[in-house]
Amino acid sequence: MEMKLVRSKASELDADVVVVLEWEGSPRPEFEKPLAALYSSGEIRGKPLEFTLLHSLEGYKARRVLIAGAGKREKFDAAALRKLAGAAVRFLHGKGISTLAFAFEDGASAPEHVDAAVEGAILGAWEPDYLKTDKEDKNKPITAVMIATQSQDPTLDAALEKGRIVAEAANLTRDIAVEPPNLLTPLALADRARRMAEDCGLSFEVLDRDRMRQLGMGALLGVAQGSAAPPALIVMRYTPDKPASRDHLALVGKGVTFDTGGISIKPSEGMDKMKYDMAGGAAVIGAMQAIARLKPAVAVTGIVPAVENMPGSRAQRPGDIVTSLSGKTIEVLNTDAEGRLILADAITYAKQLGCTHIIDAATLTGAIVVALGPTSSGVFSNNDLLLARWMTASKEAGEKMWHMPLDDEYRDQLKTVYADIQNIGTRWGGACTAAMFLKEFAGDTPWVHVDVAGTAWLDDAKPSLAKGPTGVPLGSFVNLALNWL
Ligand code: BES
Ligand code: ZN
Ligand code: ZN
Repeated sequence: MEMKLVRSKASELDADVVVVLEWEGSPRPEFEKPLAALYSSGEIRGKPLEFTLLHSLEGYKARRVLIAGAGKREKFDAAALRKLAGAAVRFLHGKGISTLAFAFEDGASAPEHVDAAVEGAILGAWEPDYLKTDKEDKNKPITAVMIATQSQDPTLDAALEKGRIVAEAANLTRDIAVEPPNLLTPLALADRARRMAEDCGLSFEVLDRDRMRQLGMGALLGVAQGSAAPPALIVMRYTPDKPASRDHLALVGKGVTFDTGGISIKPSEGMDKMKYDMAGGAAVIGAMQAIARLKPAVAVTGIVPAVENMPGSRAQRPGDIVTSLSGKTIEVLNTDAEGRLILADAITYAKQLGCTHIIDAATLTGAIVVALGPTSSGVFSNNDLLLARWMTASKEAGEKMWHMPLDDEYRDQLKTVYADIQNIGTRWGGACTAAMFLKEFAGDTPWVHVDVAGTAWLDDAKPSLAKGPTGVPLGSFVNLALNWL
């Protein structure tokens, strides 16, 4: 999909459809007469995501005009526009449209609006049907999207470019996350990351099982040993030409290509969804693509521990004690709490590589889904400054985050007489004890953990987004790096 900025009036745009905003409570004066019947019947009220498609409207060069409800003007922001753009693209899908223009007026043509509209449109167009051989919809796809504005702000072009790069990266994340687990093994995940890194000029490395053994990654290897599919530790490095500081960010993403639970096996109902247990890792791979293209002034290393959690004959058992890369011993009381085991070694490895700040993203616990549902990701941190930077970055990205507690009391639940730490707590506060386990390995290094179990996958489509992987928290990753000083 080609995206471009045009400085033109809505009425003069040459496109199959021009999308104009309709504010709730303030009808557009130019429409009041020609569309009087639509207004009086209540068909056009300007409510959020209410769409009215009109053909051959007088005074417009475009073949059709889509009147898009934008809600109350004072409540409208970039996040609302991102949704509107995505929903418009999805509404128009299958209606024989190939060129589309969004016409913005004052109040909706700041850089963040252009960025959001481009992002919303590209994300909205994505579908999870790449393996369908018989696609229902044989209609022509939207090939070009114009953002029309009369603002002369010269930074709008960069905003458009940023929106495009971030959304394309998010769609790469979604392409990877939607791959079924028979096809997306740990080595296949490494292969997807390698292709991305080669395309974007990132340095790239995969540690195989032998290398991990040499280094002493016993926690990660313990999870991997129940599967015939070998593990991979994926490392992608971005080095800025002119670093603004000596800081070095690590983005670490859980890459469990399928989580059966291992010997502590999960119930069969709904187990298929555990193919998305690598969504954090996929978000890191996508974020590294966007970072390679947007070139922030901070060094960033992406690390994805990739394993399949299976109950094979060599699988680890509840009661096993493994020695992690950090040297700490871990009693594995539940083999389904595998994400924290592989992340423990990946976080330690990030520190060994010299990373000064660590963000990890993981579909780590069912408990965070119970706590926050599909709306917000849970955020845990050992450092208030990094946490504040993360919250700002996520707000700008339109990715909701909720700060969760990490009090010392949670550590008590992880005590065992047999090893330094055990990998599960009690039934209560499961997202917090999982985070507490990771904190043990982050140590004094500033660290943020993002539990995306509820937010990385949409069970039902939204008007603006297909069902399936969302790409969260890729936008926050990218903004964090771009804003870093
Ligand atoms: N991948 C799951 C977390 C998960 C569960 C994500 C449900 C999305 C929906 C993780 O590896 C897991 O199984 N966690 C266990 C931890 C428990 C054994 C302490 C969980 O949340 O039940
Ligand atoms: Zn699990
Ligand atoms: Zn898992």
